[in-house]
Amino acid sequence: MSEPLRLGIAGLGTVGIGLVKLIRDNAELIEGRAGRKVVISAVSARDQSRDRGVALDGYAWETDPVALARRDDVDVYVELMGGDSGPAKDSIEAAIAAGKDVVTANKALLAHHGQALAEAAEAKGRVIRYEAAVAGGIPVIKALTEGLAGNRITRVMGVMNGTCNYILTRMQSAGLPYDTVFEEARQLGYLEADPNLDVGGIDAGHKLSILSSIAFGTQVDFDNVELEGIGAITIEDIEAAEDMGFRIKLLGVSQMTGRGLEQRMSPCLVPATSPLGQLAGGTNMVVIEGDAVGQIVLRGPGAGAGPTASAVIADVIDIARNFRMPVFGRPASMLNKARSARAAVSAPYYLRMNLLDKPGALAKIAGALGEAGISIDRMRQYGHADTAAPVLFVTHKTTRSAIDTALGAFAATGVLLGAPVALRIEMV
Ligand code: HSE
Repeated sequence: MSEPLRLGIAGLGTVGIGLVKLIRDNAELIEGRAGRKVVISAVSARDQSRDRGVALDGYAWETDPVALARRDDVDVYVELMGGDSGPAKDSIEAAIAAGKDVVTANKALLAHHGQALAEAAEAKGRVIRYEAAVAGGIPVIKALTEGLAGNRITRVMGVMNGTCNYILTRMQSAGLPYDTVFEEARQLGYLEADPNLDVGGIDAGHKLSILSSIAFGTQVDFDNVELEGIGAITIEDIEAAEDMGFRIKLLGVSQMTGRGLEQRMSPCLVPATSPLGQLAGGTNMVVIEGDAVGQIVLRGPGAGAGPTASAVIADVIDIARNFRMPVFGRPASMLNKARSARAAVSAPYYLRMNLLDKPGALAKIAGALGEAGISIDRMRQYGHADTAAPVLFVTHKTTRSAIDTALGAFAATGVLLGAPVALRIEMV
């Protein structure tokens, strides 16, 4: 039997403690599958005195994660602190420089510094593994790098922020406004310390940029993810979308177009009966399309102690087995810088607006759509509230720039009350 694989774990929050427990509870099973024991040499967190509900006295303690990463009795540095700079980045760089392999759940760090870290690790013959960084317990990194390795990937889509999916599905099922459900999510502890990471689409955008890199052989390019959060979604939109056979999801879509790589994380309408439309609560879903395989749908828990620890230990077991692979599935030196294409792919759109209830108002809006070259697929007008007539359109496929032209023209008609809402419909 080989020597034990020795871990240093930095970050003893929900995930770190979940990992410690999993390593203890499943020690025999892990040893059997890894071909060697997996042991914890040392841990690191800010506050040593806090009771974390699990005995940690058998492990050496470092207050400085950089010192942990450099310890001689650590083979694999496991970073579970989070953050796109500071201690997380410093300690991973220190681990690589000291010749350690790295396992992390840190999507923000990889989204911002993935290429540089991959180059540094590969120059040292080290691996960085990060299954837990994208969609929690769903083995999507393995699916892309291994199971689908022979496919030309055509599109990757996903609902990858459980908090946003909880908010949107709760608004829909309870008929509650965004602010009320946002507050509920806060009280349930679902929101990140900076809630904009969730509801602004940033967290999910980080994850999408990582998947894009693996899927399309490009350098991680988070700066060119078009980001739009869910803060402007109203209960009226959720109900109107439902009425037209759609559900609203914070959906990431990445695809290589003739003009370059398009990466979007934005609220979209998806068919209510599709797997994405049916996805409720905090669950995640990733849809991958490849030329040979067709479409794969992966669904599962995107966060939490057990699911995240499950993903981390899978990476650790691979390292224990001496299964090694380039960070983004092909050598970092061979990853191209992506040409970024914004709004390259046309789609049907959902438009909702309130019109002044007077003769010719609807004709002016329909005229503006026609002028912009947009064809109406379906249209619905609801009962009047005072002088306002709520109107919905579903368009045929069109471009974002045509929609923007139409929105500009609507403003000049003088028949609009308030701002119109325009959301893309993603056919999945
Ligand atoms: N805040 C994230 C979510 C946690 O809600 O999915 C995992 O990144």
